[in-house]
Amino acid sequence: MGVSTTINGISVLVCDTAEAASEATAKLIANQLNANPRCVLGLATGGTPLMTYQSLIAMNQSGQCSFQNATTFNLDEYVGLAADHPQSYRSFMNDNLFSKIDVPIEQTYVPDGLADNIAEHCSQYEAMIDRHGGIDLQLLGIGHNGHIAFNEPGSDSQTKTRLVDLAGNTIEQNARFFSSADEVPRQAITMGIATILKAKQIVLLAMGSGKVDAVNAMLLGEVSADVPASFLREHPAVTVVLDRDAAAGLGIDTTRKMPTEQQTT
Ligand code: F6R
Repeated sequence: MGVSTTINGISVLVCDTAEAASEATAKLIANQLNANPRCVLGLATGGTPLMTYQSLIAMNQSGQCSFQNATTFNLDEYVGLAADHPQSYRSFMNDNLFSKIDVPIEQTYVPDGLADNIAEHCSQYEAMIDRHGGIDLQLLGIGHNGHIAFNEPGSDSQTKTRLVDLAGNTIEQNARFFSSADEVPRQAITMGIATILKAKQIVLLAMGSGKVDAVNAMLLGEVSADVPASFLREHPAVTVVLDRDAAAGLGIDTTRKMPTEQQTT
C-alpha cells in the first residue's frame, strides 16, 4: 500500500502511483465517515482530489460509506463567479462529487463568490464551521508555490476566512480550467491558515513531479509564511499522502516492502 514515515512531525505515506495515493486518501475519508457518520468534512477542488472523489463515489454507491448525515465545507471560491458558473468551485463540487453521492445538498457549504458584503460573509462562514462543531477531517491539495487553499505566500498562521488576491503563478496554473488566463478571477474567498489548523485531522494529497519543490519546502524547509503549507507542521494530526513522483525529493526509500519510521529533524 506504500511506505509510511514521519518527517518533522508529519506522517507521510508514499504510494507507488497517483491512483494508489488517491485510493488511500479516499479510504481515510471513508474511515472518518464510518467512525462518525455525522462528521464535518473540509473539501478541496482542483486536479488533485478528482480521483479521490471518484473512489469515494464508488464506495458510496456500493454502500461502503454514506454522506447522508455528513456536512461539508469547501476551502475556497473565486470572487465574481456565480455558483452556476461552470468554473465556480460550487459547480466543480456539484459535478465531481455532490451530485453523485448521497449528501443532501443543503449540508454542503462553499463560500459565495457573489456575496455583497464579502467581509461579513467570511465571518459568517467561519462561524458556521464553528456552529457545526468544527471540521473533523480537512482534505487539502498544495499549490506549486506552497499555498494551501488560496493562502498564498505571505499568509501568516493567524489568518481566517477572508478575501485574497491570487498570486500570478496561481492564475497561470489555474488558467488550464478556463479558456485563457485573462478569464481567471483575480480574487478569491479562502479559509485562512488558522481556520485550516483548527481541523481535528488534516490530509494533504500531492501527486506528480510538479509538486516536488512545494512538498520539500513544506516538510523540510523553514516553517514560515513564505511557504504557507509549512504551518501544517504546527498541527498534531496531519497525514501527507504522496505518489512516488511528488515524493522524489524527500530521500525516502520507496522500494522497502515494510512500512518504516524515519524521523527527520
Ligand atoms: C483548491 C485549493 C488549492 C489547490 C491547489 C492545488 O480548493 O484550495 O489550494 O489544492 O492549488 O491545485 P491542483 O490540485 O489543481 O494542483
